[in-house]
Amino acid sequence: MDILKTIHDIGIVPVVAIDDAKQIVDLCKALEKGGLPAAEITFRTAAGREAIAIAAKECPNILVGAGTVITVEQCKAAIESGAKFIVSPGYFDDVVNYCVENSIPVLPGCTNASDCMKAVNAGLKIVKFFPAEACGGVSFIKNLAPVFGQLNFMPTGGVNTKNMMDYLGYDRIHACGGTWMVKKDLINDAKWDEIESICADAVKNMLGLKIKHVGINCENEEEASKIAKQFCTILGFDYKAGNSSIFAGTAIECNKTIGRGKNGHIGMACNDLDRTVYHLGRMGVEFDMENAKYDDNGKLKTVYFKDEFGGFAIHLMK
Ligand code: 3PG
Repeated sequence: MDILKTIHDIGIVPVVAIDDAKQIVDLCKALEKGGLPAAEITFRTAAGREAIAIAAKECPNILVGAGTVITVEQCKAAIESGAKFIVSPGYFDDVVNYCVENSIPVLPGCTNASDCMKAVNAGLKIVKFFPAEACGGVSFIKNLAPVFGQLNFMPTGGVNTKNMMDYLGYDRIHACGGTWMVKKDLINDAKWDEIESICADAVKNMLGLKIKHVGINCENEEEASKIAKQFCTILGFDYKAGNSSIFAGTAIECNKTIGRGKNGHIGMACNDLDRTVYHLGRMGVEFDMENAKYDDNGKLKTVYFKDEFGGFAIHLMK
């Protein structure tokens, strides 16, 4: 598994500080059900190491990492316990170098140009940005990131469901992290349903799925033009002819030939296609990746569901 790519696709990493390691299995179940199958379990509590070991052994669907890793000893202990990635609040050469030498994904905290220079020179591609809000939030990252073209950021610290899209909307943000869905009182009071629902809400907000257009299959260009004009007339939409279809506004697409779907297709917009494919994939949706289209940067641009919904083919788009 490509750990860093999986972190990107999950999109939000719950940062866990747990007092009773035995609770980690229930917590991981809630995270999984809520759609966030990852846990950065921190060394902020004495139970951290044991919780990592239990989660790594008993929660195979959860991507388990270690957080607040300050020393090489903690780093080694985390890896021995089954952690798949290491996160540090700041940049410590010994921890980073140990991870690089042992091919362990590591995300050290970098909040200034000097930290970023070290990270680039160590060959890192992703770093943590902590504490994100207190350090100037996404506007600070937007000033820092262009100087370090290959480096992407995982902000944590003050990030929550409300402001996370400010970060995730910037293409240099790898993923967000935080404790807001796993607050200590929720864990201590075993509020697993509440944790699940905060996660689900965050995922829904992150994906931002909405219907963008309906595609109508027409016999030929003449019919497509006629139908598009009808919609333009009654709805006051703009008529826009393309190569294979004619749009009435942005909501109606009249295909010049019988396209995908028994009844036509539905274009569904989302914030990030890779993330959406990952999360809908977890819900059992299959995608026709063979016919997927990519942009110039190699990012997924459009992809169809394998199955139709009610006779409609469905494709994702940005
Ligand atoms: C971390 O270690 O990443 C932070 O404690 C997360 O910050 P938060 O509690 O503000 O989410």
